[in-house]
Amino acid sequence: MKNCNEFFFKSFYDKRGSLVAIEGGQDVPFNIERLYYITDVPQGMERGAHSHKDLEQVLICLNGSVKIRVESDKKKVFTLENPNQALYLGPMVWREMYDFSEHSVLLVLASHHYEPDDYIKDYNMYKLIAKQFFALT
Ligand code: TYD
Repeated sequence: MKNCNEFFFKSFYDKRGSLVAIEGGQDVPFNIERLYYITDVPQGMERGAHSHKDLEQVLICLNGSVKIRVESDKKKVFTLENPNQALYLGPMVWREMYDFSEHSVLLVLASHHYEPDDYIKDYNMYKLIAKQFFALT
């Protein structure tokens, strides 16, 4: 699947617990300019429903679980349910996050500062642009 893949961070686990370290440009394929996290999502609520033109992101579910419906040249559903599990989303990937479990915490690492003009929120518009984009990449 283009511009989207699941991967795992190394976890330092011993009797004291678990530690995951993330270095920008090394453990994720971009320098981290921004991070945000999503909490307290009521049952049945969906988030996302957009794509980015240039932004790269890595999603990590620090607690609980969440499902992510993605689309680029294909469609796929990922479940994030471990803090060492990650989902990379590159440019032009449509994403919808849903099935947030109670007390779930979704951390997002992003390659750039918040830029409203980088969003594509209209799905029909996304389909048009993505068709061309993935034919060329
Ligand atoms: P929104 O894009 O609706 O979140 P999601 O992708 O999870 O559906 O963002 C919710 C609000 O937060 C919206 O008013 C924009 C604001 N926001 C920022 O100010 N900075 C950010 O980095 C992000 C991601 C959102």
